[in-house]
Amino acid sequence: MGLTRLAVFASGRGSNLLAIQEAIESGRLPTHQVVQVVCDRPEAPVVQHAARLQIPCFAFAPKAYATKAAYEQEILTRLEAASVELVVLAGYMRLVGPTFLEAWEGRALNLHPSLLPAFPGKDAIGQAFRAQVPETGVTVHWVDAGMDTGPVIQQERVPLLPGDTEDTLAERIHAVEHQLLPEVIRTVTAQP
Ligand code: GRF
Repeated sequence: MGLTRLAVFASGRGSNLLAIQEAIESGRLPTHQVVQVVCDRPEAPVVQHAARLQIPCFAFAPKAYATKAAYEQEILTRLEAASVELVVLAGYMRLVGPTFLEAWEGRALNLHPSLLPAFPGKDAIGQAFRAQVPETGVTVHWVDAGMDTGPVIQQERVPLLPGDTEDTLAERIHAVEHQLLPEVIRTVTAQP
C-alpha cells in the first residue's frame, strides 16, 4: 500500500508543516508523505522550509490572477498532478472558494487556534487573550465555505494561566497544534 499523499497550504511561518514532517520522520505518521505545499505569499518562511525539505511548492501571488477561480484552478491542477489525497490548511490566511470546495470538500482540514465556534477569523489567540477567557484552545475541522465554520473533528483545551502574556499563550497553543494536527491527520486517514 502506498503512502498517503498530503498537501499543506500555509501563508506564514510554516511551523505546522515542520511538525507534520517531524511526525512523519519520527514514526508518528509513518504512512504519510507531504507531496505539495501551497502558499499565497511567495516571501513567507514556509516557502523556504519547503525548499529545504525538497517538497514541491506552488507559491503564488493572488494579485497575479484575474480571479480567485483562476488561481484555485491552478491549485487544483497542481494537487491532481501530485495525486494528493488530503489537503491540510495550516495557517492559510485566505477563504477557499467554490472552485476549490467543489473538488475538495470532505477531503480538506483546517487548523484554527481557538475552541471554535469561539474566536473565528484572524488573530484568534489575541482575541481570546484580550477577552481574558479562562480557557481557549485548538480546533481541527473539515473545511466548508465559511470562515472557520466546518464540522469539528477534534479540539484540545489550553487554559489561560496567571501571568500569561499573549506570547506565552501563543507558545502553548502552537505546541498543542504541533501535536494535534498530525494526530488528526492520522485519524482521518486511518485504513479500516
Ligand atoms: C497557526 O496558529 C494556525 O492555527 C493559524 O495560523 C498559524 C500558522 O502557524 N491559523 P504556522 O505557519 O504553521 O507556523
